[in-house]
Amino acid sequence: MAGKETFYITTPIYYPSNKLHVGNSYTTVAADAMARFKRLTGYNVWFLTGTDEHGQKIQRQAEAVGKTPCDFVDEIVAWIKDLWQELDINYDDFIRTTEERHKEKVARIFTHFYEQGDIYKGKYEGWYCTPCEAYWTERQLVDGKCPDCGREVELIAEEAYFFRMSRYSDRLLDYIENNPDFIQPPSRKNEMINNFLKPGLEDLCVSRTSFDWGIKVPFDRDHVIYVWLDALSNYITALGYGEEGSIFNTYWPADVQLIGKDILRFHTIYWPIFLMALDLPLPKTVFGHGWLMLQEGKMSKSKGNAVDPMMLVNRYSSDALRYFLLREIPFGQDGVFSLESFLTRINTDLANDLGNLVSRTLTMAERYFDGVLPQPAQDSEKSDMELRNIALETPAVIDSLMNELRISDALTELWKLVRRSNKYIDENTPWELAKDPGRKERLGTVIYNLIESIRFIAVMLCPYMPRTPERIWEQIGLTDHKSLQNWDSLQNWGGIEPNTVVARGEDLFPRLNLQAEIREVQGIPPVSGQIASNAAEENEGLINLEQFQLVDLRVAGILSAEKIAKSDKLLKVELDTGGGERRQVVAGIAEHYRPEELIGKRALFVANLKPVKLRGVLSQGMLLAATGEDGKLALTTVDRDISPGSRIS
Ligand code: MSP
Repeated sequence: MAGKETFYITTPIYYPSNKLHVGNSYTTVAADAMARFKRLTGYNVWFLTGTDEHGQKIQRQAEAVGKTPCDFVDEIVAWIKDLWQELDINYDDFIRTTEERHKEKVARIFTHFYEQGDIYKGKYEGWYCTPCEAYWTERQLVDGKCPDCGREVELIAEEAYFFRMSRYSDRLLDYIENNPDFIQPPSRKNEMINNFLKPGLEDLCVSRTSFDWGIKVPFDRDHVIYVWLDALSNYITALGYGEEGSIFNTYWPADVQLIGKDILRFHTIYWPIFLMALDLPLPKTVFGHGWLMLQEGKMSKSKGNAVDPMMLVNRYSSDALRYFLLREIPFGQDGVFSLESFLTRINTDLANDLGNLVSRTLTMAERYFDGVLPQPAQDSEKSDMELRNIALETPAVIDSLMNELRISDALTELWKLVRRSNKYIDENTPWELAKDPGRKERLGTVIYNLIESIRFIAVMLCPYMPRTPERIWEQIGLTDHKSLQNWDSLQNWGGIEPNTVVARGEDLFPRLNLQAEIREVQGIPPVSGQIASNAAEENEGLINLEQFQLVDLRVAGILSAEKIAKSDKLLKVELDTGGGERRQVVAGIAEHYRPEELIGKRALFVANLKPVKLRGVLSQGMLLAATGEDGKLALTTVDRDISPGSRIS
């Protein structure tokens, strides 16, 4: 790595208070695309993400579900790591604020601030928003609620340590004004200056005593360090700040710190002030991106409308979701997530434009040249030159857009090449050329140029859609030709050798039936499998009626039942679900009921579970049963003869 320019990029560290929704995944996907882009273009990259595990909010949520904070966060962190794996997030380090390497350094930082007189002891009396972990003055509240999230705030009065923010505010103001790249996009800068710096910074309360899930103040152990001071420090503790031989000096200051606009204040006021107090340089850019909204408003776990990224990845692939997130929303602005716009992008950009380009070209290469890449002619026609020029110019255009974090614009540029290539097919009508044996050489040139253009596209796709290029390399015979997959290989046209053997593979992105998809996905509960814990966050273990109504509970009549081969537990049960309909479910009750005992019973079942196969047998719902103290199951039923299909509400 010696000699390479470094690039350090971070995401916010997420609260493992709940599984993440697609909005949370957005920052991490963007950071990953940036990190991959910089690696591809020759940088020595360090990409950090992680989890923010302390604080009152997490402690309360753990209590609400009867778990220790430790057990509670461990489970969610494991899920978050799985999600990042599914989304191909290639981070270099994942920091958890509960790790010793972090806690020990935060304690030292706190002591250092205290010893140099930045921190003093006093009493805090004021408002606190636990979901945001933020202090507010009376004057800052909006209608008595948190000005950031609009939720209830609590009045707290406790002994606390304070950080003298005012000591550094003039220096910070100067810095922000003299370093236009520091806060991005520029519109966010004025918001910080006018709303927070100009009115004068209040000293910040940096410890709490009314709960204990946090890092203890080393010299006053009744206090835990304020979760934002703890969390913000992750960006340097993860690099081994203060440790001999660590990578800290290699990577700090960060090149880009990506965050959502809601946490800008913490990153462009508190964070730089803490760094100034440590005598460290400030990050080069803090970029506050917009929100991913739903048509009906903000995506929120409490509204029960949070879209589950895991479901989208499993159903439509991580590349499709990454492409949508990066392409649909101009980075920095708010954008709307709707299943319809997501599926439309898949059908237009991925299936029609990219997928068709690859499949049409390879079909022709096979049909007209038996899959052996022809030698192109020396002379070029106008369309050849246009295609070649745009291919050769696109990498530099993308490079400059990416350096401005204009990720969506970079993809738009790449798609210009995809579309130009499709147009090249239409202009040259290879199927007409193929009819005339005298035009075989021209036909060969057209096919060669198309495959070379596909190679350019595949290289440039790597940061955004890491899996698709692999599939393209396979089809165009370049899996083992790493030197034709790198950024430098885009300096010259004509890298792929004639005689390379190509073979059409599966369609990259088959077209989807929009209406059928929407119907099916709407039947899947949002952020599946975690309704209870979402609710726990907001309502201490309670769910609301809307959430309950997501489960379609019905009465069914049992028509027949039989054992499933090689299984002690499973029965295949046929149900009368009303209106002349029948359904088959697989029930884990074989050890508790003989098949013949079940026939004629009325039982309750969940009608809107996604169908699954168990032991190869289709199950279209779930029969409900209670477990007795002896461990035996009892089917739940109704206490009078009621028609199959009746809804339970
Ligand atoms: N733990 C703090 C960050 C500490 S960083 C030192 C935190 N965590 S969070 O889990 O609540 O949010 C993490 C990030 O997700 C934030 O950048 C936030 O803006 C982002 N998002 C949450 N919902 C989002 C959308 N709907 N859309 C886009 N980003 C969203 O804050």
